[in-house]
Amino acid sequence: MDQSAEMIESAVDGAGGLRTHGVGKHFGGVYAVRDVSISVGDGEIVGLIGPNGAGKTSLMNVISGVLTVDEGDIEIDGVSITSLATADCARMGVARTFQNIRIFSQLDVRQNVQVALTTALRHRASYARGLGVDDFLDILGIADVAPRKAGTLPYGTQRRLEIARALALYPRVLLLDEPAAGMNETETEALMETIRSLHDRFDFGILVIDHDLRFIMNLCQRIYVMDMGAIIAHGIPAEIRANPKVQEVYLGGRHD
Ligand SMILES: Nc1ncnc2c1ncn2[C@@H]1O[C@H](COP(=O)(O)OP(=O)(O)OP(=O)(O)O)[C@@H](O)[C@H]1O
Ligand SMILES: [Mg+2]
Repeated sequence: MDQSAEMIESAVDGAGGLRTHGVGKHFGGVYAVRDVSISVGDGEIVGLIGPNGAGKTSLMNVISGVLTVDEGDIEIDGVSITSLATADCARMGVARTFQNIRIFSQLDVRQNVQVALTTALRHRASYARGLGVDDFLDILGIADVAPRKAGTLPYGTQRRLEIARALALYPRVLLLDEPAAGMNETETEALMETIRSLHDRFDFGILVIDHDLRFIMNLCQRIYVMDMGAIIAHGIPAEIRANPKVQEVYLGGRHD
């Protein structure tokens, strides 16, 4: 029998990685995130899906310190990072990309990655394992555009640059908010291969949000489904595909 998501999750329990416990975030009376407990173990690729406004980005925002947490706890390797500021979360090993790309568009590609690497080395020299800017560019397949001004690059390449920068922070967990958005099928396929290669090469966990279900189902070992701020389903891809609640809320919704 295939392993269920619960079996996988309990196996990573107590091991390294990201865990949230009953995390909540509200804006006025609206709960964007409600009692969310998830885990992303070392070496796992975990998906987070759900309709527009489900709270996926808000969850990443509280995990990465972009937003403060109203309820619950967030831990990396068992150490609380709840309500740390963004820079401190990054120092603790949370690296991310944004739904709306945030790069230094006036700097060239190499400089963008150098800034991240300099930051990482300043704070966590012990994490440096001999990788330099060129290695991160190579890993993301963007070495050929190293001298180009970041803002002039095609959208898909900017997305890759954002991941290269996150990688240069030597993360314990990498959060990717819609990395395949705006990409065509070929670019999406290539990105999937790149993310798999990160998984093969590094031991951090990856949490990935995307509306492209084929991308998520092919890439992720486990998937959480959010709706109206709450986790409504959790499973391996086959379980998620077969879950009637998911079909009703998500698959039958606005993204097919
Ligand atoms: N800074 C904010 N201030 C007020 N409300 C917000 C803020 N950020 C998010 N929200 C609200 O929180 C809810 C969740 O939004 P969020 O962006 O997290 O959803 P999402 O699942 O990422 O959606 P999408 O798939 O469209 O990116 C929505 O109702 C949204 O309007
Ligand atoms: Mg979002």
